Amino acid sequence: MIAADSIEETYAQMREMLRGVVPEVELQYKAELVFEINRLKVERDALILGHNYMEPALYHTIPDFKGDSLMIARQASETDKSIIVFCGVRFMAETAKIINPTKTVLLPSEKAGCSLAESINGADVRALKERFPGVPVVAYVNTYADVKAEVDICCTSSNAAAVIESLGSDTVIFLPDEYLARNVARETGKHIIFPSLMKAADPAPDLDYQMIGWHGRCEVHEEFTVEDIQDVRQQYPDVVILAHPECSPEVVQASDFSGSTSAMTSYVEQTQAPRYLLLTECAMGDNISAANPGKEMLRLCSVRCPHMNRITLEDTLLSLQKTQYVIEVPEDIRVRAVRSVERMLAIG
Ligand code: 13P
Ligand code: SF4
Repeated sequence: MIAADSIEETYAQMREMLRGVVPEVELQYKAELVFEINRLKVERDALILGHNYMEPALYHTIPDFKGDSLMIARQASETDKSIIVFCGVRFMAETAKIINPTKTVLLPSEKAGCSLAESINGADVRALKERFPGVPVVAYVNTYADVKAEVDICCTSSNAAAVIESLGSDTVIFLPDEYLARNVARETGKHIIFPSLMKAADPAPDLDYQMIGWHGRCEVHEEFTVEDIQDVRQQYPDVVILAHPECSPEVVQASDFSGSTSAMTSYVEQTQAPRYLLLTECAMGDNISAANPGKEMLRLCSVRCPHMNRITLEDTLLSLQKTQYVIEVPEDIRVRAVRSVERMLAIG
């Protein structure tokens, strides 16, 4: 975060921090926005949280805390500020409202959704629970409040295996990301089935399963292929490849490391490879580059998250100026959803 008394000082700090990542002409313009956001943040007693996918001129300048979904959810639960501005997507802002309901939670864009969260609703979960009575249900945090209200516990990409193991159950329903479920099933040695992908004519599901999945996919991570990895390795044989666990199991297996967005960031910071390729939202490569000028980050920027990219400095300023867009969760849903989120936070 930048602490500066003037636009000029803000610009000077941004230049130092983002040299080689963001062109100076863009920094000159953005320094004015950053200065005004940081001034207004204090005036309005607001906390700004930033997900690792925010663009570098926003990510490195205005959030009080940055990180992966789990880290920023924790910060949202602990703050005593009056307003939380969430530089991320709707399900993250909703999670903040669920766990800290007395705060005003703002999302700078109404259009920052998520293909995983859109893939399932509360009625889908209820139907699965009827079909598999008594089986505990885990929801990836990339879901909306009506889904969180129906499940036993949430998880993020950084604690999915730990959450599943904490249940001590022979069988678990894991929603909604098909690929994350397949990756966690492999990691925990469990056999997974996908009832929602089966057709009426298919044979009855295998009886020997320990995980029941859903067919949601991240529209960004599902685009990365093993061919991408082979192409990059051919051109750069010494590259180290990191894949988010929302990528397909084939992509994850062909990579050198897989973990949450913050786990990937730490991996790059703590290792010394000639170059890295991140198979995730490309802004994260820029953010790591800015913070670690010695590291060479390759990027596949043709695949972008259209939702995370909705969050701009301009809209964040408007959000603070106009108190928009306020996130609300109906209280009857919130009180049920908070149990699954708090249970996850207690696990770590
Ligand atoms: P992380 O929890 O790893 O930050 O992931 C969030 C996300 O939406 C990845 O696409
Ligand atoms: Fe959702 Fe994928 Fe975007 Fe993450 S990258 S917010 S999972 S669409």
